[in-house]
Amino acid sequence: MADKKAQLIIEGAAPVELPVLSGTVGPDVIDVRGLTSTGRFTFDPGFMSTASCESKITYIDGDKGILLHRGYPIEQLAEHSDYLETCYLLLNGELPTAEQKSKFFETIKNHTMVHEQLKSFLNGFRRDSHPMAIMVGIVGALSAFYHDSLDINNPKHREVSAHRLVAKMPTIAAMVYKYSMGQPIMYPRNDLNYAENFLHMMFNTPAEIKPISPVLAKAMDRIFILHADHEQNASTSTVRLAGSSGANPFACIAAGIAALWGPAHGGANEAVLTMLEEIGSVENIEKFVAKAKDKNDPFKLMGFGHRVYKNFDPRAKVMKQTCDEVLAELGINDPQLELAMKLEEIARNDPYFVERNLYPNVDFYSGIILKAIGIPTSMFTVIFALARTVGWISHWKEMLSGPYKIGRPRQLYTGYAQRDYNPLDKR
Ligand code: SDX
Repeated sequence: MADKKAQLIIEGAAPVELPVLSGTVGPDVIDVRGLTSTGRFTFDPGFMSTASCESKITYIDGDKGILLHRGYPIEQLAEHSDYLETCYLLLNGELPTAEQKSKFFETIKNHTMVHEQLKSFLNGFRRDSHPMAIMVGIVGALSAFYHDSLDINNPKHREVSAHRLVAKMPTIAAMVYKYSMGQPIMYPRNDLNYAENFLHMMFNTPAEIKPISPVLAKAMDRIFILHADHEQNASTSTVRLAGSSGANPFACIAAGIAALWGPAHGGANEAVLTMLEEIGSVENIEKFVAKAKDKNDPFKLMGFGHRVYKNFDPRAKVMKQTCDEVLAELGINDPQLELAMKLEEIARNDPYFVERNLYPNVDFYSGIILKAIGIPTSMFTVIFALARTVGWISHWKEMLSGPYKIGRPRQLYTGYAQRDYNPLDKR
């Protein structure tokens, strides 16, 4: 992959030659590992221009608005695939044959229940806790229940942990919701598909088992697909960093959930609905757009902008189409959708947003669909974490399947140079 060279010339020092590496597609990278011999480091807070690893899982072209999972465009997966098949693709690198697909579905189905004692663990939380606070706690605690698959150097253990996490996240997410509602927890059912099962565990009760709407199940499954993976975003990078220390997979995914929670990342879907509620009506849009442009105001248009996409987030386009389909199918005329569309139109015609290539991202419309499905705003990031678990664990598996080193960045130190201790009576 290294057929070009870069030369680093530092005043008063010998030039340093660095290999330039090329991937299958996308930008070349300058391999700076040889810099250690110069005693210097690169400096890149926020990793704006740093590739942290080599990966074969997902490719994003931010300028063209392209997102590929193992080479397949997200639009085609959203249209023709389903979430569990996309999980198989992300985990294994290829779309499954009919036999592989049915075996994988069966395997996941047989892992959907959680240890019964997790219910008492749940009881330790306040019922009004934020669902993400409980998710972080429960997923982190899974290593206390499934300690038979924690040898990260054993491929079989890595595989069973991956299957357990993909299978159990919907069960745990629904448990968290039921707990907040004071309703009995619903057990998974093996006669339902992944999305139907999740909606069953979320909205059915022992008193009444209603059939799951195929429209809502399809919309839920598509939302899962759209959130499945997104290369080296903040939470995935967190999972890789935690995994590089040898931490068990459940601890690594809990770290990813924690990182996802922030409003600049996965917490944005919840923040979009809060923002739309705060804007309230079309008349107030201009005021909020002005706030978003005001450098002295911390307010940002939630669901807008992206570190990589400087064009439309392809997921946002599919999400918007799904939004239209679901609302039409349910006969819902959600004023917040009109408000969101008007906000997008105004922002997309404002020079501030155009000059900065700020477009709606995956979080801008997702909340409107989730609300139409009946999911409360506080659960939106839990849904994101549920769907992204397969991406996190795929990157974790990829890293552990080859040579890797513990992640340990350096720093530019600008604190005090060495100085002697100052006795108390001299201060
Ligand atoms: C996700 O990385 C991923 O792939 C994440 C994700 C995934 O699938 O894993 O795609 C999921 O996290 C989507 C993003 C969800 N977050 C939001 O919607 C929150 C609102 N967006 C912003 O916070 C921001 O756009 C980020 C965090 C998403 C990106 O921030 P960057 O890349 O650090 O860019 P920046 O903050 O430096 O912004 C560049 C300029 C700045 O203005 P100037 O300093 O150049 O004058 O654009 C401005 C920013 O102030 N800007 C915004 C803005 N986003 C950027 N101004 C107003 N509203 C916004 N939303």
